[in-house]
Amino acid sequence: MIGIFDSGIGGLTVVKKFFDWFDKDNLSYRLLYFGDTARTPYGNRGEEVIKQYALEDAKLLIERGAKIIVIACNTVSAIATDYLKNNLSVPVFEVVSPAAQKAVAITRHNRIGILGTRATINSKIYDHLIKQYAAKAHKKIGVFENSASLLVPLVEEGWLDTPETKRIIKKYLSPLKAAQIDTLILACTHYPFLIKEIEAKLNKQVKLVDPALEVVLQVKEFLKNNSAIEQQLNHKSKHQFLVSDLTNRVQNLAARWLGEKIKLEKVNLK
Ligand code: DGL
Repeated sequence: MIGIFDSGIGGLTVVKKFFDWFDKDNLSYRLLYFGDTARTPYGNRGEEVIKQYALEDAKLLIERGAKIIVIACNTVSAIATDYLKNNLSVPVFEVVSPAAQKAVAITRHNRIGILGTRATINSKIYDHLIKQYAAKAHKKIGVFENSASLLVPLVEEGWLDTPETKRIIKKYLSPLKAAQIDTLILACTHYPFLIKEIEAKLNKQVKLVDPALEVVLQVKEFLKNNSAIEQQLNHKSKHQFLVSDLTNRVQNLAARWLGEKIKLEKVNLK
């Protein structure tokens, strides 16, 4: 099984991209998802706590049969990728580096904007990686970042096209627009739900990068070249969706975000 985890159920945006791929290529890989709904959000927490939670989340998936781990959460990817790679014996994928690579590949005027949680932006990981990839591509790229902490609760409340949300998006984008970005990375699981509202506030030429799509493409490429692992991913059981706290709200949000009803199962973290 492909293990995917997130601080909550925002990572279902990554699941959706996996489903699109499976449908298109008629694949029967199985997903095992864990959303840490009891401890969400992670985006305003400190490094040590994020690393500890991330390791517990990933171990839960491995104990239940995950052969690779996909970190769907931008915050965990930004803070805990190396920590997980050093502490786990299965391949670990994350959303930050493929998104940074994509942005470097498509920027036309070498000005990339990032919107993310406080922890993601404070980590400076996007700035670091983009400059690293840019140097390899003999480009000099400016990186302009802003943390957009209010967008997660607004998306969870279903406030997508309200005047309040639009005003807040405008405010978060204003320094990035002033910096004349031509590419914007939506560096948080929740932001793709606001894509229309974000696009409406940007110049039409600005290209958006969705890390959820980029990580799926990376996993696809990896499996093409690693048949021993690939063969372990087909599973007789169904996709499974685990959460650490199960409420009606979580159940309803999950169905709304994935566009189909799924059975969420409550599990206890050790
Ligand atoms: N999943 C988180 C991310 O992508 C957003 C929610 C949170 O702060 O935990 O950064």
